[in-house]
Amino acid sequence: MASDAISVLFVCLGNICRSPTAEGVFRHILAQEGLEDRFRVDSAGTGAWHVGESPDRRATATARERGIALSGQARKVRPEDFREFDWVLAMDTSNLHELQEMKRQHGGDAEVRLFREFEDGADPDTADPDTDDLDVPDPYYGGDRGFERVFDLVERACRGFLDHVLEDDDEK
Ligand code: 4NP
Repeated sequence: MASDAISVLFVCLGNICRSPTAEGVFRHILAQEGLEDRFRVDSAGTGAWHVGESPDRRATATARERGIALSGQARKVRPEDFREFDWVLAMDTSNLHELQEMKRQHGGDAEVRLFREFEDGADPDTADPDTDDLDVPDPYYGGDRGFERVFDLVERACRGFLDHVLEDDDEK
């Protein structure tokens, strides 16, 4: 892996539904585009309830239906993540606020952003990160349809984020 790889950490609450889905979808897109070597990708949760667990069965099943394998074990966001990652992408506004507070306390240069600011068609420079409209909704206590919606939103945001970050990188 290149030492100047672009590093991206996807973050939700439990790190078993939304952020592992985002990690899996983003890895899949990178592989399709032959870009794996340019990125380092991980996911984490702001909460600790599920630390060490595999992704939720419903998230895994939804991703598998679309040809994507989810992997990894849940971990909590760490203070050093804000120094070690270029991008820390929050799945919803509540995650965003917790991450902003952590960064304020611990320091670091990571760009902490709401993931869906980048979705296809959105303009990350004008998107309002304080609106719930840009949340990837928490599917944990809902039915399977919630996981399909999460997958669709995540896929659009992954593609938009990749376009954004490659444009940024090419300008350097
Ligand atoms: P995630 O979903 O944040 O997308 O991983 C959740 C998983 C577990 C809980 C909440 C959300 N929980 O309350 O245990």
